[in-house]
Amino acid sequence: MNQIAAGEVVDRPASALKELMENSLDAGAQSLAVDLLEGGVRRLKVVDDGAGIEKDDLALAVARFATSKIATLEDLERAATLGFRGEALASIGAVARLAIVSRRAGERHAWRIACEAGTVSNVEPAALASGTTVEVEDLYFNTPARRKFLKSEATEFARCDEAFARIALSRPAVAFSLSHNGRRTAHLPPEGLRARAARVIGEDFSSSAIDVRSESSRVRMEGLVAPPGFTRASRDAQFLYVNGRFVRDKVVAHAIREAYADVLHHDRHAAFVLFLEVDPTLVDVNVHPAKSEVRFRESSAMHQFVFHALSRALSATMEGAKGEKGPSYFSDSKSNPPSFSTQSSFAVSQPSGSYEALFSTAVADERRVASAPASEAPTLGFALAQLHGVYILAQNMAGLVLVDMHAAHERIVYEGLKDALEAASLPSQPLLTPIPMTATAEEVEQANEARAELGSLGFDVAAAGPRELVIRAVPALLADLDAQGLLRSVLGEMREFGASRVLIERRNELLSTMACHAAVRANRMLTVPEMNALLRQMEQTERAGSCNHGRPTWVQFPMADLDRLFLRGR
Ligand SMILES: Nc1ncnc2c1ncn2[C@@H]1O[C@H](COP(=O)(O)OP(=O)(O)OP(=O)(O)O)[C@@H](O)[C@H]1O
Ligand SMILES: [Mg+2]
Repeated sequence: MNQIAAGEVVDRPASALKELMENSLDAGAQSLAVDLLEGGVRRLKVVDDGAGIEKDDLALAVARFATSKIATLEDLERAATLGFRGEALASIGAVARLAIVSRRAGERHAWRIACEAGTVSNVEPAALASGTTVEVEDLYFNTPARRKFLKSEATEFARCDEAFARIALSRPAVAFSLSHNGRRTAHLPPEGLRARAARVIGEDFSSSAIDVRSESSRVRMEGLVAPPGFTRASRDAQFLYVNGRFVRDKVVAHAIREAYADVLHHDRHAAFVLFLEVDPTLVDVNVHPAKSEVRFRESSAMHQFVFHALSRALSATMEGAKGEKGPSYFSDSKSNPPSFSTQSSFAVSQPSGSYEALFSTAVADERRVASAPASEAPTLGFALAQLHGVYILAQNMAGLVLVDMHAAHERIVYEGLKDALEAASLPSQPLLTPIPMTATAEEVEQANEARAELGSLGFDVAAAGPRELVIRAVPALLADLDAQGLLRSVLGEMREFGASRVLIERRNELLSTMACHAAVRANRMLTVPEMNALLRQMEQTERAGSCNHGRPTWVQFPMADLDRLFLRGR
């Protein structure tokens, strides 16, 4: 392994905060209080009850490449601590005013050292009951060029909040608190993972998440994953930890997506908190300055391990939820869509596999409808019944029509949204009673910054507090649905791709996400008149033959094919 290169450790307040919190955890702290001023730029303070630093080690703590945590290169290869480079405090001290006060058990009093723009003070007596308090003030005061790159106070705070959340989620047994500009924004008592996840990710995730636990000789995975039905518009609820450290990893991310492949909409994202414990010799944690990436020595074995562990966990829930559909469909994810019959003579005119044939038929039919005299029976016929809450059965001139009601409705809503946005902005419908919504600091910040863009989508949203939004108007086309969930998805997309990009380049994706929210869910009972209304709308909608994701929305079973099934007319 290469000796460590001094990277950009502190590129913004959030990364300094992360380093300080990791140091506290390495010192065995059971309680951490974080105090920020002005997004962490003005001040960042972490108070812990850890083991403390000895007087004689204080100067070393702020010296570059001095770490108490590892002594040899072999130690580095199996570092069990979050820190191992002895670089963080020195880097922070070089670009800010850093002060450390610490008291080890048994000492008569605490000691203090300061480091300002790289100049280290003497060690002096100080007052502190126990543990360590680290204060970082005026980040980049001596490097105005870098200071310029800092974002607004709210954005920097949001990043700090995110860094805080990642660490807090990884150690549920440790107490954490966070305050910003004198206001307490988080208070987390020691608790279990599920309870911690409820506070950090949300009650909805925590109450539906599935336990994952899997172990092989050299890898262990534990945590919580959302069931297939619970998905997010962005990756903001994806927490992966490798040996206790939050990381982003392509191999594991890919394995997770694969495990969800059949049950996750391609533009939706899974939610999870997963802890991978890997033999330290099998993973290189020293590939990124902020240690936020890792390299597995046997990446394909890792991929398989994660994929199988998750597949098992997910298929168990599908079995419970959907009975007959169960795990076989799921584990069979590489094969074609399940055929509705094993009878080889079942020659429907559009077998489910050949979507292309289906499209062209559907489009041809549409044209016919458009030019047909009003008296002619409608293409999709009239509804007879609903099958298992998923399909509409209808009868038309040719025979039986099966409609996937969710897919069909999604297409209708999507086309409606596209037309409206093309014409101008989406019409907005003010709400008689505005809807309050708890949000993350980041969402509040985003909603503020993207007011105009949200407005063109028909939303009127304002901040009602540091973690609260109020929705005053919603897109009129989507007025009667879960406004909070919809807004959260939209903010998610904006966060991931940028508000203006979302409206220009990714407009259709965004509308498609919105449409998906609006579309009738499977298992909702529709009355016959409602079903007929849906059929009529389909006939008037462009591209109604397939949903936004290219799946067919309806299939025709001609009488002749049905007859053949029963050997009629032979
Ligand atoms: N809150 C703390 N409590 C006890 N000791 C601390 C604390 N913070 C820092 N130290 C001591 O200061 C040393 C330097 O910390 P620093 O973060 O710079 O390096 P590191 O944690 O060893 O490695 P890395 O640069 O990878 O974080 C640590 O090795 C540790 O001995
Ligand atoms: Mg450290």
